[in-house]
Amino acid sequence: MPMQLPKTLQWIGGPDGFLRLLDQTQLPLKVVFKDCKTVEEVHEAIRSLRVRGAPAIGVAAAMGCVIGLQVETQASLENRFLAVDQFLRTSRPTAVNLFWALDRMGRKFQQILPLKEENVLPGLLQEALEIEEEDRQMCLAIGLAGLELVPDHARILTHCNTGSLATAGRGTALSVVFAAFDSGKLRQVFCDETRPLFQGARLTAWELLQAGIPTTLICDSMAAQVMKEGKVDLVITGADRIAANGDSANKIGTYGLAILARAHALPFYIAAPSSTFDLSLANGSGIPIEERAPDEVTSPGGVQVAPEGIAVYNPAFDVTPASLISAIITEKGVIRPVSEAAIRCLLAG
Ligand code: MRU
Repeated sequence: MPMQLPKTLQWIGGPDGFLRLLDQTQLPLKVVFKDCKTVEEVHEAIRSLRVRGAPAIGVAAAMGCVIGLQVETQASLENRFLAVDQFLRTSRPTAVNLFWALDRMGRKFQQILPLKEENVLPGLLQEALEIEEEDRQMCLAIGLAGLELVPDHARILTHCNTGSLATAGRGTALSVVFAAFDSGKLRQVFCDETRPLFQGARLTAWELLQAGIPTTLICDSMAAQVMKEGKVDLVITGADRIAANGDSANKIGTYGLAILARAHALPFYIAAPSSTFDLSLANGSGIPIEERAPDEVTSPGGVQVAPEGIAVYNPAFDVTPASLISAIITEKGVIRPVSEAAIRCLLAG
């Protein structure tokens, strides 16, 4: 069992409480918490990746709704909710869990609106806490569902961070890693550093080290060589949004890894909860790809490595076509082979 890490996010207090986040921009060098007491602070925390990872972003946004509505103004309750909702939707574009959680908070708000005004905040908080608890359960179920795909003595390569820092529970792709470790199936993890923000080096390496899991850090550009040397049995990553046909957006570099896995005849798996599917999109071409600031590329960790004035392109995500994905692991089971019919059938069940 992985040891207990500091809580990634937690609600402190009652309906007039606040969101306490483990500030992931400071890891692994400092364990610092950020208390978000205004919706602006929640928005900033999501935008600047103090809280990150698709499921964790969804939970933070749901709690952000409660915080936003604590402020009373002249506007009607409905207009205040709408303003908070619209504002949080602008924090990050790719992870659909953000919009999924806000849609759910919106439905809850409509349900409780006819009740007395004093019931609104407790009702919304209850929904946010339910989203958090469900995510925790989904993580556990994903780990168990993924076990069937992990051979004995498995050497797993993963990208970005998909563990307890990215969710309310023990993770998505990393939940499979933890489950494999617990059941004695895991030999080693290779962890991509994940340029430009180093979620692999800073966060996954930190999580896995503390869990006592044999982990080797590599630069993103080393994955092909490691596969060619026969050191990897399978690749598992998470996802930020999965279209109806299975095309999956995840951290930049994932698409390249899927191509490499195919070239080396290795299985490539995606692990994600049902809240990461966006069945309104027929395929991945409609998934909005976040573009982030150039200095993330030119000045990693605040240290300038590129000449002043160089043009930079910094897409934060890419889309892996379903044809390169061997299976999608969800809390409801494994989708294999990946097809729209199989996805719709599993999610409906
Ligand atoms: O930019 P980030 O760090 O939020 O990106 C996170 C990822 O790409 C994760 O792989 C994805 O959200 C799945 S997390 C369980």
